[in-house]
Amino acid sequence: MFPESPIGVYDSGVGGLSVLRAIRDALPQESLLYVADSAHVPYGEKTQAFVLERAHALTDYFVSRQAKAVVVACNTATAAAIAQLRRRHPDLIIIGVEPAIKPAAHLTHSGVVGVFATTGTLASPKFAALVQREAPEVRILLRPCPEWVGLVEQGELAGPRVDAAVRVPVAELRAAGADVLVLGCTHFPFLRDAIQAAAGPGVPLLETGSPVARWLRHQLQERGLLRGAGTGDTQLETTGDAPALAALASRLLGMPMEAAATPERWR
Ligand code: DGL
Repeated sequence: MFPESPIGVYDSGVGGLSVLRAIRDALPQESLLYVADSAHVPYGEKTQAFVLERAHALTDYFVSRQAKAVVVACNTATAAAIAQLRRRHPDLIIIGVEPAIKPAAHLTHSGVVGVFATTGTLASPKFAALVQREAPEVRILLRPCPEWVGLVEQGELAGPRVDAAVRVPVAELRAAGADVLVLGCTHFPFLRDAIQAAAGPGVPLLETGSPVARWLRHQLQERGLLRGAGTGDTQLETTGDAPALAALASRLLGMPMEAAATPERWR
């Protein structure tokens, strides 16, 4: 592993691009290899064993590409697999994402926080432990929103279908007293405008892209693996349809992107 080595980032689909965007902004000199596991999206409704198997396969792929770090840019996969990944690759920097429960607990005035995530994340022991540790005094309202993942994957980021999909879940948690909402799935920041409109202008919507990018920088620095200068490139790959990923990623990132197919063995 060298400072010039790439950083692997993956998600079930395009959601992790919300994390990739934050890493790009914070660490423009780094080369990033993003894999969308589109052949297997969504993870949120699959078994923990399946999500773990995919985590092992994709991490092995990043290792084969000489990655110096892996960012699991998916709350569901982090909950299902991060401990096992770290055990299998003790020398690799492996960073996960978790719903922003700790900052939410600090921000709430009502003592009620709403969390939108996948079924897999909300049902996981790791999430239960996070709530117990960081917000034992707070009332946490859970709301699985698998249909929001589908909307983002279809490139539906605004419009009547999106407004209809966010209206009821957001209104219910607001009516139950939530004054802070956690976007506990990396797909959801791409629906931020619609969620904010449904929640009202003053309601904080918490996501984790920037803190994850800062933590990644810290970890790289500590191990002498931060790339000093230059401009890194971003490569996109998918286990699904490459032209479809290129088109969607271009829209989500607001710049023209290309995408390639991940080699057969890792799909
Ligand atoms: N983006 C993922 C997450 O953060 C999962 C979405 C899915 O595949 O269900 O949980």
